Amino acid sequence: MTFDRKIKIAPSILASDFANFGAECEAIEAQGADWVHVDVMDGHFVPNLTFGPATCAAIRPHIKGVMDVHLMIAPVDPYIDAFAQAGADVISAHVEAGPHIHRTLQAIRGAGVKAGVALNPGTPASAVAHLLDLTDLICVMTVNPGFGGQKFIDMSAKVKELRAMIGDRPVHIEIDGGVDVNTAPLVAQAGADVLVAGSAVFKGGSVSNPGPYGENIRAIRAAAEGVYV
Ligand code: DX5
Ligand code: ZN
Repeated sequence: MTFDRKIKIAPSILASDFANFGAECEAIEAQGADWVHVDVMDGHFVPNLTFGPATCAAIRPHIKGVMDVHLMIAPVDPYIDAFAQAGADVISAHVEAGPHIHRTLQAIRGAGVKAGVALNPGTPASAVAHLLDLTDLICVMTVNPGFGGQKFIDMSAKVKELRAMIGDRPVHIEIDGGVDVNTAPLVAQAGADVLVAGSAVFKGGSVSNPGPYGENIRAIRAAAEGVYV
């Protein structure tokens, strides 16, 4: 994984056909997705359940690029090795998921994976002030985690604050929740470079009709880059 700040669109397979993850990952990559965002939920840290490392391992051969695993689980540490072995390129853990996020980020990097730290909407930017040299990605949640298709909560001020804190460190800012053609420009202008989008990418398409995925990805990218289509 090389670092750059170009806009990257990361479709969340939470909005895809759960019976067809492999084909869905191949379809979104063929339609222009930069990363594939994989939402892991435990029914404890968030009020919803998805899947675990075995599903991630099964999906992995169907992704050519970056597999971006967002852990909405607590505790995190006992599962890091399993997600690393499943082939994650990035593993993000929530700062709210336990008392030892610093140790968690060390453990993720220790497993040979890029380390991400996620912030719920109510958590201030200052929560990562002492983690900036331990992290490769800061995920700013623009919904309360647990479900796709929720309304965007504007966190542009937090993104700007983080961008200034990061300085010239090679740290991505990722936005997760409610990203579409209307909200993408706000967060891109504030300094985000990775845009997760579930419903806004998968709407209107399917594995047998993947063209709309491409149209949606191109529209979000163009909006983020300031060129409305
Ligand atoms: C929310 C997840 C998001 C979600 C985004 O808990 O972390 O990745 O799938 O979905 P949309 O884009 O539909 O808000
Ligand atoms: Zn997510």
